Amino acid sequence: LLVLPTTEENKNMDMVLTIAEAIHDLGIDRRLDPVIAIGGGVCMDIVGFAASIYRRKTPYVRVPTTLMGYVDASIGAKTGVNFAGKKNKLGAYVPPALTLLDRSFLGTLDARQLSNGAAEIVKMALVKDAELFSLLEEHGPSLIEGKFQDLPGGVESNAVGAPSRVLTLAISTMLEELAPNLWEDSLTRLVDFGHIFSMELEMEALHSSKLFHGEAVAIDMALCACLATVRGHIDSSTRDRILAVMRGLRLPTYHELLDEKMALFAIEERIKFSQTIKMPLPVGVGTSRIYDDITSDEIVAALAMAKRLHAEP
Ligand SMILES: NC(=O)c1ccc[n+]([C@@H]2O[C@H](COP(=O)([O-])OP(=O)(O)OC[C@H]3O[C@@H](n4cnc5c(N)ncnc54)[C@H](O)[C@@H]3O)[C@@H](O)[C@H]2O)c1
Ligand SMILES: [Zn+2]
Repeated sequence: LLVLPTTEENKNMDMVLTIAEAIHDLGIDRRLDPVIAIGGGVCMDIVGFAASIYRRKTPYVRVPTTLMGYVDASIGAKTGVNFAGKKNKLGAYVPPALTLLDRSFLGTLDARQLSNGAAEIVKMALVKDAELFSLLEEHGPSLIEGKFQDLPGGVESNAVGAPSRVLTLAISTMLEELAPNLWEDSLTRLVDFGHIFSMELEMEALHSSKLFHGEAVAIDMALCACLATVRGHIDSSTRDRILAVMRGLRLPTYHELLDEKMALFAIEERIKFSQTIKMPLPVGVGTSRIYDDITSDEIVAALAMAKRLHAEP
């Protein structure tokens, strides 16, 4: 057993080499002994990457113990570490041999970590699942309070099954999006929702205000809800429902570091790596579309709207 200080700050090649050395020293047999990563998303990303490059490919198993790991980082083929001040710039597409899910691990997470993971559930609800959205709308605060274990209320209550239904829908919708595009040959991805402005914000805020990944994603999604309103895809009452769901899950919806300069730079980066903007935006509750024609003026107007709503929700 190798106990690792897996933090976002340590998510780098040094840690990968430490793990590779341990795999090497333990004499793991590539054909018989998978490497088992038990921990949060950082742990699974780093250990998965170390396994994927040791002897070109050593099987690994993911056992997520955070909500972020459970609904997102343990799904799909991606592994990786931060590099050159950028998120996940080095990595591989090597899926795990197996993923083992046990939601009792979530019972020891604090509220902030649960909210962090819930951001990715909100993402799937907003881009493609109205049922998931209404479950979050109805049960959001109690899901966090009850740590995604069964909610009290007896079998009579429809609340009792809400945590498992939410987790099932979050994972199945994520799988529907990732499975046909495992190697990301297509850059048109609904799951990129909330991951455009947040990429810059997360790295910028890493050392100052210590934003978690899901928190940065939530701030991005809130801005995108404003952007969708500015562009006329949703009305202000839908936008307010979206923001209320996030607040119910104790997620932030605004950050002053995400200003015009950062937002426009994020768009430039997006175009550089995805050829065009390809930005998913909500067009209703539980439905979204991908747009290429977003203008700087619209982004500036959305930033002003997000700031105003933050000041007077
Ligand atoms: N590969 C992918 O597709 C993918 C998808 C989403 C996120 N990620 C990555 O995942 C990372 C975020 O993952 P995270 O939010 O799990 O963060 P994390 O791995 O840093 O874990 C958060 C904290 O929770 C602690 N912890 C873990 N399990 C616990 C438990 N059961 N009880 C109490 N504390 C526990 C950890 O020690 C850590 O301090 C980011 O680096 C992100 O880039 C990857
Ligand atoms: Zn994410």
